[in-house]
Amino acid sequence: MCGIVGYVGPKRAQDVVIDGLRRLEYRGYDSAGIAVVHEGELALAKRAGKLANLDKVLADTPLPPAHTGIGHTRWATHGRPNDVNAHPHTGGARRVALVHNGIIENFVELRSRVEADDHVFLSETDTEIVAHLVELQVQSGVDLPTAMQRVCQQLDGAFTLVAVDAEDPDRVVAARRNSPLVVGLGEGENFLGSDVAAFIEHTREALELGQDQIVTITRDEVTVSDFWGRPVEAQRFHVDWDLSAAEKDGHDWFMRKEIFEQPRAVADSLIGRRTTGGLLQLDEMRLADEEIRDLDKIIIIACGTSFYAGMVAKYAIEHWTRTPVEVELASEFRYRDPIVDATTLVVAISQSGETADTLQAIRHARSQRAKVLAICNTNGSSIPRESDAVIYTHAGPEIGVASTKGFLTQLVACYLLALYVAQVKGTRFGDEIDEIMVQLEAMPGHIETVLAQSDAVYELARAHTSTRSVLFLGRHAGYPVALEGALKLKELAYLHAEGFAAGELKHGPIALIEDGLPVLCVVPPRGRDQLHGKMLSGIQEVRARGARTICLAEEGDSTIEPYADDLVRLPRVPVLLQPLVAIVPLQLFACELATALGHDVDQPRNLAKSVTVE
Ligand code: M6R
Repeated sequence: MCGIVGYVGPKRAQDVVIDGLRRLEYRGYDSAGIAVVHEGELALAKRAGKLANLDKVLADTPLPPAHTGIGHTRWATHGRPNDVNAHPHTGGARRVALVHNGIIENFVELRSRVEADDHVFLSETDTEIVAHLVELQVQSGVDLPTAMQRVCQQLDGAFTLVAVDAEDPDRVVAARRNSPLVVGLGEGENFLGSDVAAFIEHTREALELGQDQIVTITRDEVTVSDFWGRPVEAQRFHVDWDLSAAEKDGHDWFMRKEIFEQPRAVADSLIGRRTTGGLLQLDEMRLADEEIRDLDKIIIIACGTSFYAGMVAKYAIEHWTRTPVEVELASEFRYRDPIVDATTLVVAISQSGETADTLQAIRHARSQRAKVLAICNTNGSSIPRESDAVIYTHAGPEIGVASTKGFLTQLVACYLLALYVAQVKGTRFGDEIDEIMVQLEAMPGHIETVLAQSDAVYELARAHTSTRSVLFLGRHAGYPVALEGALKLKELAYLHAEGFAAGELKHGPIALIEDGLPVLCVVPPRGRDQLHGKMLSGIQEVRARGARTICLAEEGDSTIEPYADDLVRLPRVPVLLQPLVAIVPLQLFACELATALGHDVDQPRNLAKSVTVE
């Protein structure tokens, strides 16, 4: 939530900061703002709504040609999304400007302390008090880094803070606790960003920061300390994707571009996973074979789409390794006193690596001595950094708020994990693992085959613009696909959409069926006859009550034809791998329907890409 940018260098700060915010806008778009330091004074502009609103303000009244600046794009937590609550906020003397991502939990108490000294607050935010406190510190004579340290020592909660001081024009100071922040290392210029997209146009060299750290950037120097001023060595890394990966490439939406990138993303996530001898290798695994053999339970924790990837993983891991798997919403995990110990492997799935609910859950798991393995798409983010091991997915940057290629590559990582555990525990023979790997390696081609039907799916979607409700049915690994299909439609088309396990329908939800209600059905492959037959019965039951069925069924499955009002064909793949192809038409359907309804697909209302508050 919230995107943050900071810059010091020879370029015009307004241009660098606004371009950075444009790439971070997916993180929040309730308001946007910028502050620059010029000739000993702050110049500020901020506006409610999307960055385009701020663009208009700056087109009419550009900021002075400063070389130091900070910017913010907001996902509101405290205070409505209006101009006043937009960041940056300043101290009372307008000497310090500050932007913030996260929540300051003790802001009321801090605010009442200074309100007694006649400080006037303009906004309803939890941020403004921090600007006041930092300003009080610099007014007392300390420099900006020291001021930031002293203030951070008083703060509770999660925060990334970035500040400038009008009387210290060549320096930007930032702090982080439980919220993301990376440093971009340029030549004679340096950058700060919530993620590397903020500065990828300028540099691909970056520093990752740890918990409770303060970073100071000038044109030529980057210094990192902890909240008590002790120097810290930050970890340098190279960003292996470039600007073109963050652009739309001719598509109308990032989401559509990302859907079409899925064959490549899946292929990339499979590269280098086998030794020349054919054994599976997961470089970033960092768990000893002994530890894996001793596992007696796996708990998967995640949120949203990543949670549904975890549900698919349960079917694969249990089937291939005979190890019990629980899948749990990260936001619920630590509040129920879960039974976790040193023989439990906790798998945290997160595209962004910054989801606060997941981060807190892994901290709880580690405090109970469990090993934590992260499945993550974002190098250097908090979740892999705080885990014992990580499998990186190689989806490339995912900008669309609705996760697509993130999901598919998470599935691949889950399959790889399952096979790896099977290899180490010896629950599958080497040739069985080989066979599944060959099937996985064929998936990019199968996904291409599904994408080739996009026009037919788009037509179907456009025929549903007046629909108010859609149900999704699936069984086995198709059940999480149904849930994920419904989530896509909710978040993009703002429709009532619900996914059900098809067998559960008759226990209540079938009462929802009425004439003409569209029901999307993920039909399992015929190899699993019982499953397939049961699904067919479920489809007949809803059809008999007036539903219009849109069935996703494998090529050559003629048994489905009498029961499908519309039919989308899927390639023939094993049931456990079917989610990799079955979700694709559902993503296309949601994207196109939302487009036809005139919604902003990349920035759906009320959402943010990365949810860094609990
Ligand atoms: O970055 P994460 O994978 O941890 O994010 C989890 C969810 O917030 C995310 O999947 C969300 O549900 C997406 N908007 C779904 O499209």
